[in-house]
Amino acid sequence: MAVPNIKTELPGPNARKYIEMSRQYEPNSMSDQVPAVWQSAKGVVVEDVDGNVFIDFTSGVLVTNIGHCHPKHVAAIQEQAAEVMNSYDFVNPWRAKLAKKLVEITAPNLNKAFILTTGAEATESAIKVARRYTGKYEIISFHGAFHGRTYMAMSVGGKQGVKRHFGPMVPGVLQAPFCYCYRCVYEQKYPECNFTCLRYLDHLLETQSTGSVGALITESYQGGAGSIIPPGDYMQRLKQWCEERGILFILDEVQSSFGRTGKMFAYEHWGIQPNLLCLGKGIGSGVPISALLGESRILDVLEPGSMSSTNGGNPLCSRAALTSIEIMEEENLVAKSEDLGNKMLARLNDMMKKYEMIGDVRSMGLVAGVEIVCDKASKQPDAVATRKIVQEAFKKGLIMIAPIGFHGNVIRIAPPLVISEELLMKALDIMEECVSELSE
Ligand SMILES: Cc1ncc(COP(=O)(O)O)c(C=O)c1O
Repeated sequence: MAVPNIKTELPGPNARKYIEMSRQYEPNSMSDQVPAVWQSAKGVVVEDVDGNVFIDFTSGVLVTNIGHCHPKHVAAIQEQAAEVMNSYDFVNPWRAKLAKKLVEITAPNLNKAFILTTGAEATESAIKVARRYTGKYEIISFHGAFHGRTYMAMSVGGKQGVKRHFGPMVPGVLQAPFCYCYRCVYEQKYPECNFTCLRYLDHLLETQSTGSVGALITESYQGGAGSIIPPGDYMQRLKQWCEERGILFILDEVQSSFGRTGKMFAYEHWGIQPNLLCLGKGIGSGVPISALLGESRILDVLEPGSMSSTNGGNPLCSRAALTSIEIMEEENLVAKSEDLGNKMLARLNDMMKKYEMIGDVRSMGLVAGVEIVCDKASKQPDAVATRKIVQEAFKKGLIMIAPIGFHGNVIRIAPPLVISEELLMKALDIMEECVSELSE
């Protein structure tokens, strides 16, 4: 089968029918993506409802790390669907086995796993538990952060688009700038800055806190803000800053876990151990499941009935997640993500040297952000060109997520980890073609 293979105008006649139906019957609240109406997907190849074939640079939204519809994953789901799908809070073997597995593969201090359904549920739960354990209500979070769309998750978020017109937010959140070095709010340069942004945290405590800070929550790299990756030992210092002040360190790895960054969990890059760890997306590679890992001294403060969830830890999703982890291990997908990620970064860096409109490239494993600007000197974000690149790539057979970032000028690359080097390079060729055509 030729990949990609575009046979109709885009969107094609069937796609237009479903887009129209969606416009009529669904709210307009979802992100504005290219008009791809997905019919089926296998591995890294997506077919739309008109038979057009695309390379996938989205993994859903960094979800299907083992590839779409992996046969072993599908078989486990089918088998479990015929056994039992929901058992509420009654113990089921798959939930227990998944909790055990998650405890085994995460940092040694994390010895309990609470299985939930969505990423936002995991971050909400982390904050609830942190408040209960510490008896303190203030939470520190970062500008640019994205932790989900429920009220507390939104309140610790740091991007206006998610919160606009939904106020007031939940009180008790103190926010500080993240280490967005390409657009440093202090107009300083790393490493000469010696992390002014970290030193600001003490000022934040002194001026904004009532003395009741219980926890700090951060993504390992900021996804929605534009794949912003902490430089040097930022994360080690942040963790140490929390430790020295008795503040719990909650790491949101809903997006960055399960091999995405070239390690099973991104915290392994920095050799740190979070007190609470939020997992989602890639944990189930397509089924709705998330988890909150924690130290038992923290999670054991919860009494029976205080926190649970209708679909959390159901046998179907738990078994699917366990199988997905098994596939990652059998197929060495973490090492593959690191290896292909290095090749992808080298290629993107070459493109950055060649094209004035690529201002910055940030990547870890198989996730990257490419920042599109009017020119390198001004760094002025070019959201129009960014959108055009995503749209033109779609016409050539490459599906990418709509631009991200504070200014909507970052292209996000996140293929399933099973992508071959050949298809990865083919997809990057398509992207480069679009950048090149737009540069002329
Ligand atoms: C870092 C991070 N945290 C939390 C969430 C929320 O996950 P969900 O959409 O499953 O609620 C996301 C989703 O994009 C995320 O990237």
